[in-house]
Amino acid sequence: MTKKYDIAVIPGDGTGPEVVAEAVKVLEAVSKKYGVDFKFKEYGLGGDLYLKEGTLLPDEVIEELKGFDAIFLGAIGHPDVKPGILEREILLRLRFEMDLYINLRPVVLHPGVETPLKDKGPEDIDFVVVRENSEGVYAGGGGFLKKNTPDEVAIQESVNTRKGVERCIRYAFEYCRERNKKKVLTLCAKTNVLIYESDLWYRVLQEVHEEYPDIHINYQHVDALCMWMIKNPEQFDVIVTNNMFGDIITDIGAIIQGGMGIAAGGNINPEVTAMFEPIGGSAPKYTGRNQINPMAAIGAAQMMVDYIGEKEAAGLMLEAIKKVLKEDLKGLEAGKMGYGTHEVGNLVADYIG
Ligand code: IPM
Ligand code: MN
Repeated sequence: MTKKYDIAVIPGDGTGPEVVAEAVKVLEAVSKKYGVDFKFKEYGLGGDLYLKEGTLLPDEVIEELKGFDAIFLGAIGHPDVKPGILEREILLRLRFEMDLYINLRPVVLHPGVETPLKDKGPEDIDFVVVRENSEGVYAGGGGFLKKNTPDEVAIQESVNTRKGVERCIRYAFEYCRERNKKKVLTLCAKTNVLIYESDLWYRVLQEVHEEYPDIHINYQHVDALCMWMIKNPEQFDVIVTNNMFGDIITDIGAIIQGGMGIAAGGNINPEVTAMFEPIGGSAPKYTGRNQINPMAAIGAAQMMVDYIGEKEAAGLMLEAIKKVLKEDLKGLEAGKMGYGTHEVGNLVADYIG
């Protein structure tokens, strides 16, 4: 029997639609090969819709999205919209309102891909960041007092609930066990300064560890961890961290694995519909030029296929991605691939068959 998956697609802004089209092309190749049927429904959310109709993310759309098997997002961010509006009201709102409390961001250097790290290769860069995705400073707590006066006060609060921290840390332990590689879980925090929030994370790590004696735990302050990601990335297996630190360290992760052209992630809550996205932005200056690298979007689609349980198909997608990275692409930056956006999508889809 053919398995059917309903996928909501949000191409979004800038180069989002272009990279999404290539990922969909690859998913269609997978579909033919394996008899899995992906049914796509597109949602035209993003900067253009906002500028035209003032619509950001209607409540009914959120409800509808909850009914899909997965959500695939291109990019959100428009040069004519003030920074923060689309990001907060679309991307972050999706993460928050669907309670997608994990942002899973693998950092893997594939063979043939150049890293800026001297003397490091694929055997050194292979870890996963488990970023908390529903709390922290991203919860938006705070306010101004005496705004626009010399006595102005701006407060930005970090929300860390016991439940939120615990479910994130437990997910990271489970993931580390299932991944079955170095079996080391590193907590990235800042216990020497954030004496409340990092203290909670540290205590919860110790407590949950009792359930996972097969996993080694490790702790690093975020500043030191940034340094170690560059100096000795080979020490990492799974890193767990709060929303803001996770945002920052995964940009370092992205560049050491070859850049924004390759970095992908998943917004996950095991109980509800997950959302997958390339982690680079909408890259407006490349819009419509057939120059942007679709590999991050194809990688996000690969994570999605793996996540919904089509392991064999996901395996072949990964093989195809690795083949094209190793044998075909000259580089991963926009305009420097030796191929256009469509051609890169074709190369991956053709390998799949
Ligand atoms: C990311 C992005 C977002 C974030 C922005 C666009 C709000 O940087 O997905 O990493 O900060 O989470
Ligand atoms: Mn980011």
